[in-house]
Amino acid sequence: MQLDVLTLFPEIFPGPLGSSITGRAIDKGLIAVNAIDLRKYTHDDRGTVDDKPYGGGPGMLMKVEPLFEALQDLTQNGARPKVILTTPRGVVFNQKLAGELAKEERLLIVSGHYEGVDQRFIDAWVDLEVSIGDYVLTNGNLAAMVMIDAVARLLPGALGCDESSEEESHSAGLLEYPQYTRPECFNEQRVPEILLSGDHGKIAKWRLEQAKMLTRRRRPDMYAGYVAWPPRWRKNEKENI
Ligand code: 6GU
Repeated sequence: MQLDVLTLFPEIFPGPLGSSITGRAIDKGLIAVNAIDLRKYTHDDRGTVDDKPYGGGPGMLMKVEPLFEALQDLTQNGARPKVILTTPRGVVFNQKLAGELAKEERLLIVSGHYEGVDQRFIDAWVDLEVSIGDYVLTNGNLAAMVMIDAVARLLPGALGCDESSEEESHSAGLLEYPQYTRPECFNEQRVPEILLSGDHGKIAKWRLEQAKMLTRRRRPDMYAGYVAWPPRWRKNEKENI
């Protein structure tokens, strides 16, 4: 999967994506992260990429011409990838969207800077405006990295045998149940007896109950979705969780 990132700070890539699972995905050729310098597409000496908003108001906007020129250059061979703009006003990124994006062969993430982007670029080129949560970041580079991380680990072959993306937080519509590894007793804290019982049916039931309890308390919004959507999220409840 080719992941192009159009940014004013190409030097910060791959950054943390170069380590761990995403680093291995790069080494294995499962993903190619290609940071492109937006300033390459300016023509004045100062490499101007921003300007004041018409109508007044605070801050600067990303100018339309460098963005258009970059997009034209990056789609020259006719292939038009899905174009994502990172912006705090976008739809909030989640596991489901990560799954959708993982189906694409190529994505182009435009990293938003300043107060925003000239709407004409968005209208002409952007398929989806995406935010990674309800807070404001300095720019979209960290958001782009977060999305790339979440997408890359879903690609076939990205995770080792010991790492599963199926039975973990969010993919089942519930938060993950509590887990324990050796030793059985540490500082007088014991591993719940049921996990040592070898009774996999009972263990699955306990885990599901724990996951439900935690989700109901911590993420009532997510729990409501779990309860409201039986066909999709609860069909394997007995076997899986
Ligand atoms: Cl995608 N961009 C910025 N600037 N801030 C954010 C964001 C994106 N997602 C959450 N906050």
